[in-house]
Amino acid sequence: MLDPNQPLEAEINRLRREMNAVILAHYYQEDDIQDIADFVGDSLDLARKAATTTADAIVFCGVKFMAEGAKILNPTKRVLLPDMNAGCSLEDSCPPAAFAKFKAQHPDHIVVTYINCSAEVKALSDIIVTSTNAEHIIRQIPENQPIIFAPDKFLGSYLMKKTGRDMVLWNGTCIVHERFSEQELVKLKTRHPKAYIIAHPECPEDILKYAHHVGSTSSLLRFTKEHPGSEFIVLTEPGIIHQMRQQSPGSMFYEAPGIVGSACVSCNTCPFMKLNTMEKLYLCMKNKTPELTLAPALMDAARAPLARMLEMSQPK
Ligand code: 13P
Ligand code: SF4
Repeated sequence: MLDPNQPLEAEINRLRREMNAVILAHYYQEDDIQDIADFVGDSLDLARKAATTTADAIVFCGVKFMAEGAKILNPTKRVLLPDMNAGCSLEDSCPPAAFAKFKAQHPDHIVVTYINCSAEVKALSDIIVTSTNAEHIIRQIPENQPIIFAPDKFLGSYLMKKTGRDMVLWNGTCIVHERFSEQELVKLKTRHPKAYIIAHPECPEDILKYAHHVGSTSSLLRFTKEHPGSEFIVLTEPGIIHQMRQQSPGSMFYEAPGIVGSACVSCNTCPFMKLNTMEKLYLCMKNKTPELTLAPALMDAARAPLARMLEMSQPK
């Protein structure tokens, strides 16, 4: 049980010093977690930080596939995740056994996989990508080399358009980005005609066609900083608006709604990312659990495609 009078921030700071831990947080985490983290970033930034940290422990405030990446790149370090149920619908959409069969049906294809997948699927892949580096990495693959892209079909279609490459796509989606409503977006655009529309490439084409800028979370954040004093309709998880408001206080940000009347209460919020809370962050540091562990052979197999991603990415 937590003491309601306990100053949570002070306790987390004390434990961070005691454990020599680094707290890494994704932009979709709740505001308080972003504020207390040592570093906030997109999937690529966080993988890079995890690969180079000198801390003894990594406390990963994100989803499980991200924490797994940190562990794979740092097998001797303790990696804690405040809630081990923080999964990802893209990971769920790509079960390793089915993916192995799919891969076997395309034996001459190179397997390029979005980082939003399990360690088992990473181990079946040749190169991992994130939405920040995917286009840059795909452009380095020889023209005559056929490609499988998994698991996000919308990011895959977007990349096919951008690069002109024909790729065989796995049929996976992100439940947050696929639910933005074109009808609601058009209504919002009519109310705010001067607003820039900015979207993550996990959104479907019927949403991306309205966007002035498409990019990863860090790319969307950069775009807002480059256009100070503007209005933005944001088509990604609204957690990132915290950073956007802090970094561009003179701008206005509007959350794009999901499909009105659908079963979810807040369709644009990632239910997995939001499982982490300040209380769970404190408790995981205090109790040193839940700790992420993976079989050494699996980590070895998944490390090569992740390391290839870091080598092939543009320097920061
Ligand atoms: P980014 O790499 O753009 O931060 O994306 C992570 C993610 O899960 C998007 O839904
Ligand atoms: Fe996965 Fe989508 Fe949540 Fe990102 S926003 S972690 S892709 S479910």
